[in-house]
Amino acid sequence: MTALRAIQGDITQLNVDAIVNAANSSLLGGGGVDGAIHRAAGSELLQECRTLGGCPTGQARLTRGYKLPAKFIIHTVGPVWHGGMQDEAKLLASCYRESLVLAAAEQLASIAFPCISTGVYGYPPEQACEVAIVAVRDFLRAPGTLQEVIFCCFSENDLVLYQSTLAQIA
Ligand code: AR6
Repeated sequence: MTALRAIQGDITQLNVDAIVNAANSSLLGGGGVDGAIHRAAGSELLQECRTLGGCPTGQARLTRGYKLPAKFIIHTVGPVWHGGMQDEAKLLASCYRESLVLAAAEQLASIAFPCISTGVYGYPPEQACEVAIVAVRDFLRAPGTLQEVIFCCFSENDLVLYQSTLAQIA
């Protein structure tokens, strides 16, 4: 049984097998959690990202973690919120699922997600939280190596939201 939990903190500090980056489709860095991850991992990360040729929305790519405590970084590209009628929920669920597919392929035991798309990309936090938890919970129905999935919330509001939603639907 995989443990699902929410914590509040800086994802770059977490000692897990992989952290997930809320990237853009260039995979060449940006602001928010993406900027923090690139700063903490060091410039070798950008060098590896340049070899990947970008990533479409809803998909994911794996790199090494370089100077991070995490061994790997899984870069995924969340949807920009356009009001909810442009497949945003489907694409956001795909980000979580495809990240877990890569983690499973590497036989990882632990992974931490940020609140993908809820910063610059404008996805409403409550709706994003439900999509995230349902996607992860559904993926984990199939047995695998993952022992722990962490939702790493940057704000206290997000932490409260994740804790209450996990208690209701996980
Ligand atoms: N640890 C954990 N969460 C964080 C951290 C951190 N160190 N820093 C910010 N967050 P955002 P998006 C939270 O904007 O909406 C970038 O420029 C933040 O509070 O980082 O998917 C990319 O290059 C929020 O809850 O990602 C893209 O262009 C969450 O991370 C674009 O932003 C996501 O906010 C992606 O936008």
